[in-house]
Amino acid sequence: MAYKAPRGTRDVLPDESWKWQRIERVFRATADRFGYREIRLPVFEETELFARGIGDATDIVRKEMYTFTDRKGRSLTLRPEGTAGTVRSFIEHNMGRGARLTKLYYFCPMFRYERPQAGRYRQFWQWGLEAIGSMNPAVDAEIIHFSVDLFESLGLAGAEARVNSAGCPTCTPAYNELLRERLGGKLDQFCDDCKVRYERNPRRMFDCKNEHCLELLEDAPSILESLCEECAEHFASVRKHLERMSVRFVVDSSMARGLDYYTKTVFEVHHEGLGAQSALCGGGRYDALVEELGGAPTPACGVSSGVERLITALTDTGVMTGTEPGPSVYVASLGSEAALAAAAVIAELRKSISVETDYQSRSLKAQMKEAGKLGAGHVVIIGEDEVARGVAVVKNMTTGEQNEVAADEVVAALLVERLASTQSDK
Ligand code: HAM
Repeated sequence: MAYKAPRGTRDVLPDESWKWQRIERVFRATADRFGYREIRLPVFEETELFARGIGDATDIVRKEMYTFTDRKGRSLTLRPEGTAGTVRSFIEHNMGRGARLTKLYYFCPMFRYERPQAGRYRQFWQWGLEAIGSMNPAVDAEIIHFSVDLFESLGLAGAEARVNSAGCPTCTPAYNELLRERLGGKLDQFCDDCKVRYERNPRRMFDCKNEHCLELLEDAPSILESLCEECAEHFASVRKHLERMSVRFVVDSSMARGLDYYTKTVFEVHHEGLGAQSALCGGGRYDALVEELGGAPTPACGVSSGVERLITALTDTGVMTGTEPGPSVYVASLGSEAALAAAAVIAELRKSISVETDYQSRSLKAQMKEAGKLGAGHVVIIGEDEVARGVAVVKNMTTGEQNEVAADEVVAALLVERLASTQSDK
């Protein structure tokens, strides 16, 4: 039997992994610029943490968790997202002591038993940020700014930030009642899931994936009209900050997030080209979660983003195409004496630059062809004749120019050439 990767998972092969590395590099550099520090969390947590943190009525908790019992009968779940685990760790390690805002980031895989389709996987990667310890609307704006800045730094154009407010426990009960009042008359037309949502938390109905339900919700009242004074002022301030920071956004009062912990600001950044699963990232404020999970009352705000979707958007828009940049140098040799001379040059060069070579005793012509295919910047050629005369040929693959160099000067000559070509690029 031939084994295959489990449904909804995918291998990242070397032809694509360079894209992952670039995204991770730019993400970490951006996190550094914005003052976030890395947290590495366990892949699984107690099931109860997610049930309480994400919410019993959410799709994630009701039908998408990878839950298993360990040998001692404990119920554990592969993390479906990073916020609950980060908050658990924040409380466990008493990170809130002192008045400082705790700013954390992560870049790791998540697991959700969803129906696989384009942009939706069962194992997917997220980069995420969590800023724990402040009510200040400037923090919400910073996190939205970060998301837009990162996509721009990666060269992605056409990403649109949509912001909304999810209200707070003061204003959402009245909004829930208003929704029940307006939607009750046509409840029989909604799907069975929505009927459950109607009873438990009618705002969750906006999160339905059924087209017909979404049509029925089109004329539902907007939460923005039901916000209490504090939430309305907070939301106005987030918008003002974004405007002053020149972050482009639109207000989308129909936006609902799939997790129950949100209070006040919620936002997503979408990219049109992605089709149905167009959300590149999503996040918002979760002022009650730290207390809900057993910590002292502590406001917080965060975001997470699907890396696979980001790669699709960057590939489809032509920002990340083709293959990985080639090695700096390819060393081609012919004959066993030349191979030994080549081994010495390669070992020396690899102290500072990337080098590829041939281990299949192919002809010099075949090796030159491979160097071209790999996109090597320079080729060092050492044939039998070169070994006999104590020299090597150094060829610049961009200009086609080639020079003969004394064998013990090859490394120095190449380093000088490479320095000259990077300077002329500037
Ligand atoms: P989320 O909206 O569930 O939020 O996920 C965030 C992002 O993860 C989505 O916008 C999408 O890009 C990606 N994503 C989600 N599910 C999948 C999937 N099955 N396959 C591929 N990509 C997916 C959260 O996870 C919250 N923890 C965000 C947050 C952080 N809120 C506050 N702090």
